[in-house]
Amino acid sequence: MSRLVIVSNRTPGKAPAAGGLAVVLKKTLSERDGFWFGWSGQFSETPEKQARFETIDGLSIGQVDLTRADHNAYYAGYANSILWPAFHLRLDLTNIQSHWYEGYRRVNAQFADALVEHLEPDDVIWVHDYHLIPLATELRRRNVRNRIGFYLHIPFPTPDALNAIPHHEDLLRDLVAYDLVGFQAQRDVAAFHEFIAHEQIHKQTGGEPMVLDIDDTVLEAFPIGSDPEAFARLAVSPNGRKIAKRVSAALNAHALILGVDRLDYSKGLPQRISAYEKLLENNARLRRTVHMLQIAPPSRDSIKEYQQISDELDSAVGRVIGRFAEPDWLPLTYVKRAYAQASLAGLYRLARVGLVTPLRDGMNLVAHEYVASQNPEDPGVLVLSRFAGAAEIFHDALLINPFDTDETAEAMRQALAMPIEERKERWRKLMDSARLHSVDNWASSYLDRLMGLGDTPDRDDTGDADVSDADARPLSTPPAGDPANRAITVTPRKHRGTLFPWLKSVFS
Ligand code: F6P
Repeated sequence: MSRLVIVSNRTPGKAPAAGGLAVVLKKTLSERDGFWFGWSGQFSETPEKQARFETIDGLSIGQVDLTRADHNAYYAGYANSILWPAFHLRLDLTNIQSHWYEGYRRVNAQFADALVEHLEPDDVIWVHDYHLIPLATELRRRNVRNRIGFYLHIPFPTPDALNAIPHHEDLLRDLVAYDLVGFQAQRDVAAFHEFIAHEQIHKQTGGEPMVLDIDDTVLEAFPIGSDPEAFARLAVSPNGRKIAKRVSAALNAHALILGVDRLDYSKGLPQRISAYEKLLENNARLRRTVHMLQIAPPSRDSIKEYQQISDELDSAVGRVIGRFAEPDWLPLTYVKRAYAQASLAGLYRLARVGLVTPLRDGMNLVAHEYVASQNPEDPGVLVLSRFAGAAEIFHDALLINPFDTDETAEAMRQALAMPIEERKERWRKLMDSARLHSVDNWASSYLDRLMGLGDTPDRDDTGDADVSDADARPLSTPPAGDPANRAITVTPRKHRGTLFPWLKSVFS
């Protein structure tokens, strides 16, 4: 069986993984041969060409140090001050400094240099997230002919937002250097196609469209998930029970409304606090019966926009406490710290309402973890943003528009008042979906797809196809959620000249 080589910016460390990508991929790799490759978390005076390997938690991990200047340009700069805000449609929060792009490419080239000597011909390489979009291009330049897949853990931007990213044409060409590009949601696949359609319109109106050869790349949505059975166990583990017992005693029978998010402007935290404020404002009788707990570990705090969201949240929390607190009742607790998974699972199970209300999000695994941690006999209610990828699979959550604080407040009220039978019914369907989209199913469906593709094409002989080829049609979004369209492929491999074959099936 082929080895699996996972590449991502962060690799699993010695401390327990605090969520996201690291948690889900650790499990995937632990079930296969191979290694994980990425940044060591350390700095060197000159770019490190050789990877250091060590075994952590039974996994082989290869790491390189970066120079401080390169890391700043690549991570805090291009990846998190340009790509992250633009992909989350926050162009107002982008900070564009042109030299960052060179650092971004330099680090990707450095990763490729350090990785290439450890590759075997049969290895399957799986690259993760927006930090490493150019890695396949760099590896191909070093004659790597292995199967290479990419998975994007954040949303894909709309055409306007993509156009606002410096060097976005390079990024698109980098993406199609992969054999398989996986997205979180159908929405993201549709956004990619929409960009292509805009180029087509541009051509039709006499403009010069960008040239992109998408013949040899498969683009598909693979909704990621959690390990629901493990979360269900953690929620009743000794550590899960311990924290639930302590918090339950402090709650004094008040219903818990819980949010757990990285402190990031994409998570809609000030809007969420305002919605809670409206709940208390409009429903005076709820005031002494509920308590909101917001856990928000700080993140990327060297970036100004993250300091600003932190200040904004401090002020929103202070406002609500000052407005509604009484000597013997606090409406809200705000904790700026990370917690271990077992503690989170215990808290999820205790919470009558789980708030997952990002302004825009890839999947959002907190939604999965909240569902998985519930007591089947007395489950809580998930209030979920329509703009999280999770909304495509969790139809039985209370879906809200996070920009509409009235709607969010009303969903909280409805969740608190929901009869037990309805809670159980909704939870059963949510849990079925969490199981169907478990991390195991996600990883195996992605890897089966990647390994099942035909031979890796010799990309050197491919002439670039103009996206405005004659048989391209005006594009419409393929129907989301239609199982027949689960795999939306731009062009079959080895098939040339028809850029939107799926359109044919849509229109035939
Ligand atoms: O959601 C995207 C993501 O890159 C996750 O994979 C990761 O867990 C999270 O953001 C944290 O990002 P960072 O590595 O910048 O702290």
